[in-house]
Amino acid sequence: MQPSPTNDRRSSGREVPPPVDPAAAGPRVLAVIDGPDTADYTDAADYVAHTATLRGVIRQRLVTRALIEHLPPAPARLLDIGGGNGVQALEFARRGYHVTVCEPDPRMLAETRRGLADAPESVRRRVELIQGDGRDAVHLVGTGWDATFCHGVIMFVPEPAPLLTVLVELTRPGGIISVVGKNGPALALRAGLQGRWQDTTALLGEPSSAETTETAGAAGASGQPAVQLPPGDDPANVAAILTAAGTQPLAWYGIRTFTDHLGDSPPGPDVDAVVNAEWAAGARDPYRGIARLIHHVHRRTGIARRRLASDRR
Ligand SMILES: C[S@@+](CC[C@H](N)C(=O)[O-])C[C@H]1O[C@@H](n2cnc3c(N)ncnc32)[C@H](O)[C@@H]1O
Repeated sequence: MQPSPTNDRRSSGREVPPPVDPAAAGPRVLAVIDGPDTADYTDAADYVAHTATLRGVIRQRLVTRALIEHLPPAPARLLDIGGGNGVQALEFARRGYHVTVCEPDPRMLAETRRGLADAPESVRRRVELIQGDGRDAVHLVGTGWDATFCHGVIMFVPEPAPLLTVLVELTRPGGIISVVGKNGPALALRAGLQGRWQDTTALLGEPSSAETTETAGAAGASGQPAVQLPPGDDPANVAAILTAAGTQPLAWYGIRTFTDHLGDSPPGPDVDAVVNAEWAAGARDPYRGIARLIHHVHRRTGIARRRLASDRR
């Protein structure tokens, strides 16, 4: 079951202070009340450290594994918008692809260069780094890419639509668009598994009678999260925007069903077994529906909708 569009989209902003009392009136914004460990890794050094943890390794390896199922064979031209420290760029360059990273943060680009320095010359030659905002990427890197990635970036823009629409415009008809975003409706899981009960209750909100009277086994059928989601953290919204911009959904995966509460634990000797378990769960219901992140894989169908002036920022 592909995430389906939800309707009730009130405006949101990350700077809104969280109400402590879950019964407090007014909409709440999940990203703010998601607990102290919701560091969004805007700092390059923090993000590099995160990519070495079990959670970071699981995320990257699941993304790679899913993409292998959908990408055209190498060599093909891949574009990684907000490519961070270049984990996927390096991975796919090693696999013979030509990868361009478009990334606004010079410290992230420096981390990518550091990673590339250890790679063979043939791999380094297949990676190009461009500094810039993804929303400006059409002007920076042109269009016609065989696949465009945008992983873990939509949580950093106030409105996902302009960026998501650009991803479609960047990609050639028939090409692949790969987006990873937060799974807003399931954000309480981490807090609950960590025993942060006040955060958990705040994230869940009060169950509605519509939810409790649903037929057993039809979990999630109402499609409405208990509390308001930032638009980029709502997988149904992300899928709907991509589709409206000219794509067809191919697959969606959950990332970190069993391991998201493990903080900064390093990978252990059983990491391959953990990846296999996460992969098996992340590819099917009901497990993928409670994963921390959702990986959307779409195919561009035709001519992208022309961007409106209001899409620009
Ligand atoms: C959490 S990191 C993810 C990095 C990488 N995509 C990955 O999955 O490992 C988020 C990245 O998004 C970048 N970013 C934030 N806003 C952006 C924007 N408007 N356009 C492109 N990249 C952006 C940040 O600089 C950062 O490198």
